[in-house]
Amino acid sequence: MRIDVITVVPELLDSPFGHSIIKRAQVKGIAEVCVHNLRDYATGKHRSVDDYPFGGDAGMVVKVEPVFTLIEKLKAERTYDEIIFMTPDGEKYNQLIANRLSTLQSIIILCGHYKGVDHRVREHLITRELSVGDYVLTGGELAAAIVVDSVVRLLPGAISNETSALSDSFQDNLLSAPVYTRPAEFNGWKVPNVLLSGNFREIAKWQEEQALERTARLRPDLLG
Ligand code: ADE
Repeated sequence: MRIDVITVVPELLDSPFGHSIIKRAQVKGIAEVCVHNLRDYATGKHRSVDDYPFGGDAGMVVKVEPVFTLIEKLKAERTYDEIIFMTPDGEKYNQLIANRLSTLQSIIILCGHYKGVDHRVREHLITRELSVGDYVLTGGELAAAIVVDSVVRLLPGAISNETSALSDSFQDNLLSAPVYTRPAEFNGWKVPNVLLSGNFREIAKWQEEQALERTARLRPDLLG
């Protein structure tokens, strides 16, 4: 899968994309994540990517020209399945959307900044708008990192044990059962006996019960 991320602060994405599963997926050739600095596509005397809003509001707005130039350049190189804009007023992101995005070949993710982006970008270039929650971030970069991380880990081969992505919380609309590792007792705190029993049917039953109980208690909305 190819993911192109457009930002005015590429440095913000160095760390999230440069480690762990996302890094390994890129090294293995499972994912190609390309970060583009919008400033490289700015024109005019000051090469600015933002300007004052018409109508005299406070704050700056990302200009349409550099976004258009970069997206057109990318579209000339390959076909994109989605061109996504990260924005707090977008569709609320969840595991189902991550699963669907992970089946696509190529996507672009545009990170908003300042007060927003010229609305003509959203009207004419963007195919989908996503929010990672009802709160406002300084820019779309952290939101884009969330989308890239949650999508790339689903790609076949990204996680060594593929079943581990499938058994994530939310994959079946249930929270996961608690997990434990050695020692079996620490500070008087014991691991549930059933997990030490070696009885896999009992363990699976316990995990299912725990998943249901935790979901009902912590996220009853998931049970519908
Ligand atoms: N940009 C700023 N806040 C955001 C949010 N909550 N989701 C997606 N993009 C954003």
